Amino acid sequence: MTLLVFDSGIGGLGVVRALRELAPGEPLIYLADNGFFPYGQKPDEVLLPHIVALLTRAVEVLAPRAVVVACNTASTIALPALRAGLGLPVVGCVPPIKPAALASRSRTIGLLATAATVRRPYLSGLIAEFAQGCRVLSLGTPALAELAERKFSGAGVTVAEIIAPLFAQPGGGEIDAIALGCTHYTFLLPEFLSVRPDISWHDPAMPVARQALRVAAQGPATPSAHAGTAFFTGAPPNPGLLGPFGFRRAETCQW
Ligand code: DGL
Repeated sequence: MTLLVFDSGIGGLGVVRALRELAPGEPLIYLADNGFFPYGQKPDEVLLPHIVALLTRAVEVLAPRAVVVACNTASTIALPALRAGLGLPVVGCVPPIKPAALASRSRTIGLLATAATVRRPYLSGLIAEFAQGCRVLSLGTPALAELAERKFSGAGVTVAEIIAPLFAQPGGGEIDAIALGCTHYTFLLPEFLSVRPDISWHDPAMPVARQALRVAAQGPATPSAHAGTAFFTGAPPNPGLLGPFGFRRAETCQW
């Protein structure tokens, strides 16, 4: 059945890549709210109604069978409202605190995310539930999502200086596992690894894709007429960049 994968920009394409790997034939639609990017810098009271209105309209127009909110910033603020209002299954994406805590021997883990995700109460709940006994050091920054967007468009990027403050905090030298709490960071994994190959980096794209497929398996197989199209609320990127993710068309939303 057709899944609508949603993010503020290119970050959700990491989940698309994982979906294509696991289920190459799955009909997908992509929606990037790049006209409103970055989410991580906007206040909750602006983001929540904006995200709910956009996805409500998208579901009406595109008729997917389920929505994958492939954006931590949107998930940590809007999942309950979307689940209550959209009338179809909604798969979310949260920072992979649990696998990072499980992987850590030093019991000090790092979290890289947007400023919005780092301050969410949802995060404290995740830490209390899955990282008991761990010290969790976080860095909320707008720079990495923007860097990921630039890399996607072909720019050369470096991350060392941006992530240095994470390790400069008291206890930062003991971090041995890091949760990537923003889907954009999937595209910076090679850079993170080249700076700190000794750390175990945890990206949520694959677990989110697996969960989305479990949900998809429960619905009817008929694809939406929009499957294979990537929609953007702002200017679409060069369509050649989307081909590797299985999208044949890139359009600016006219709705
Ligand atoms: N990809 C989004 C996330 O997972 C955020 C990027 C943004 O700031 O818009 O949080």
